[in-house]
Amino acid sequence: MAGQFITFEGGEGAGKTTQAKMLADALEKVGVETILTREPGGTFGAESIRKLVLEGTDDRWSGMTELLLMYAARLDHVEKLIKPALQRGAWVISDRFSDSSLAYQGYARDLGADRVRSVHDVVMEGFNPDLTLVFDMDVYLSLKRVETRAAQDDEVLTRFDKAGQAFHTTIREAYLDIAKNEPARVKVVDADGSRQAVHSRILNALTAKYPEFAGKLGGA
Ligand code: TYD
Repeated sequence: MAGQFITFEGGEGAGKTTQAKMLADALEKVGVETILTREPGGTFGAESIRKLVLEGTDDRWSGMTELLLMYAARLDHVEKLIKPALQRGAWVISDRFSDSSLAYQGYARDLGADRVRSVHDVVMEGFNPDLTLVFDMDVYLSLKRVETRAAQDDEVLTRFDKAGQAFHTTIREAYLDIAKNEPARVKVVDADGSRQAVHSRILNALTAKYPEFAGKLGGA
């Protein structure tokens, strides 16, 4: 099978990063070369842009400059890491991709989804994920998780973590709307549950799209 591009999306604190790693491990175990990456970032240049865009005060960038920074980082990531990996047959799992721009810069920052889609089309020229999993969970619960994690790990809260509950509710609704508009590509996964429970839901979503993995992934 050709390399597949899978993206993990959702609000903060939904456990995407842990689950992306668990899925990458499960795929590697059945012999699929899997590259795990993230956005904004994933390449040297894109990681430099990540610092610019995630640090500082909320009003550091206008909505459009923020979007263009995200797309500058994304294009570097796609050209230098994602496409070469897919071309040699590897699978790529990215912790966030273009639907984050649609949700955060488009729906939440007043640019509007249509302007974000226009930029996407110009920059990406038809390149899109094969499968996107949206991690959905109660906003209050996910914000609690972000706070606990930050307190335990001395993690620096990003500009987006610091935004209020209303912002995060908008993000949740944005992702549900994106999933409704593109049901063939975007699947919603209930992110409330133990690591193993959520992992099983992800494997189910994956085998629904790639039936050749049925009964193989996760040793099930
Ligand atoms: P990160 O600490 O990686 O958050 P998470 O663990 O929730 O993925 O920070 C990434 C932040 O950047 C997150 O708040 C979402 C935001 N973001 C955008 O606003 N637009 C984008 O296009 C991307 C990729 C991320």
